[in-house]
Amino acid sequence: MRSLVALGLFVAPVFAVVGEWGQCGGINYTGDTVCDTGLVCTVLNPYYYQCLKGTATTTTTTTAPTTTATASLQALAKAKGKHFGSATDNPEFTDTPYTSLLFSSMFGAITPGNSMKWGPTNPSNGTYTYTNGDDVLNRAVAAGQIVRGHNLVWYNQLPSYVSALTDNATLQAVMTAHITNEVTHYKGKLYAWDVVNEPFSDSGGMRSWLYQTYVGTGYIAAAFKAARAADATTPLWLNEYNLEYAGSKYTTALSTVTDLVNQGVPINGVGFQGHLIVGSVPSQATIVGALNAFTALGLDVAFTELDIRMTLPATAALLAQQKADYKTIVNACLAVTRCLGITVWDYTDKYSWIPGVFSGQGAALPWDENLLPKPAYDGIVEALKA
Ligand code: XIL
Repeated sequence: MRSLVALGLFVAPVFAVVGEWGQCGGINYTGDTVCDTGLVCTVLNPYYYQCLKGTATTTTTTTAPTTTATASLQALAKAKGKHFGSATDNPEFTDTPYTSLLFSSMFGAITPGNSMKWGPTNPSNGTYTYTNGDDVLNRAVAAGQIVRGHNLVWYNQLPSYVSALTDNATLQAVMTAHITNEVTHYKGKLYAWDVVNEPFSDSGGMRSWLYQTYVGTGYIAAAFKAARAADATTPLWLNEYNLEYAGSKYTTALSTVTDLVNQGVPINGVGFQGHLIVGSVPSQATIVGALNAFTALGLDVAFTELDIRMTLPATAALLAQQKADYKTIVNACLAVTRCLGITVWDYTDKYSWIPGVFSGQGAALPWDENLLPKPAYDGIVEALKA
């Protein structure tokens, strides 16, 4: 009895109040949680709550992560045989709260949003720079994550020395040189390569661009063969958006990929980018049908760049619809054995590409601009747990 009293007297001072700027909560935090008078425990991100000046009415603690909001998307996906990943970009690495969640057990796969593309890695003929791509790779590997190579051949972000070419033979030579160099550099280190990105037109048929114009559709097979020649084992993918809708773009994609497979071109998967719109996501049955059309060719599929945008401002109704839409995508992937996983095109609205490209739209990701989980996050968790 006396010792318990003694213990109580000893323990009491441990529950000290936290001063201004001190940590008062967050995932894995076990210290004191009560702020000093006049301070409010404020959620800066799921991993870090801080005592800041303010009143209870202005605190953000009402949006603090719930128990479910701390669930690892990767752990839940892994239990279903999938991965759950995020894209990222090097300028974001100075944001410590951001990187501490990105390179954590929350995610199992990382895609560099820009740093492995043709322009950034091969800015002039014969010059190769992999510093940023290597930085993404090394951080992900240190966190136990797998990395997707993105991408080798795309109509955007080309080096200017390539954009200036019009000669078929020269275009083929520079493409082969670039693919050979980059695939060799990352040989054996990536779980997949997006070899050709967005080769189809939204209205059906092939996208009209430099290589389609001056080399012809054969550039696609040539790119896959060059990648395979440089790395015998890394899975090689074609990556495209708007395949979820089973429209004319999907029809062209399916017939073109069927030809590639029939010709023995070394292709292993088709990435569904998943750049979608809140309230306009196709039904689960439509998406599953589209995924299965490619798996029937002996290919793997995945959602490689998922984001579901809305017209701003975000309202409770839009966020609720977005939650339902994220669930639809997760459920579609879960329904297809060869859907290997889901990657969001960055995890937070803070670093989404959407507002910069689609005027007036945004709020497309499962975490908001303050790194707080949104209803969409809960939807992903619910679908992965079901
Ligand atoms: C985007 C990046 O996120 C942006 O930072 C960049 O300015 C443009 O490219 N489809 C793709 C991705 O395959 O490479 C694109 O990424 C988004 C659309």
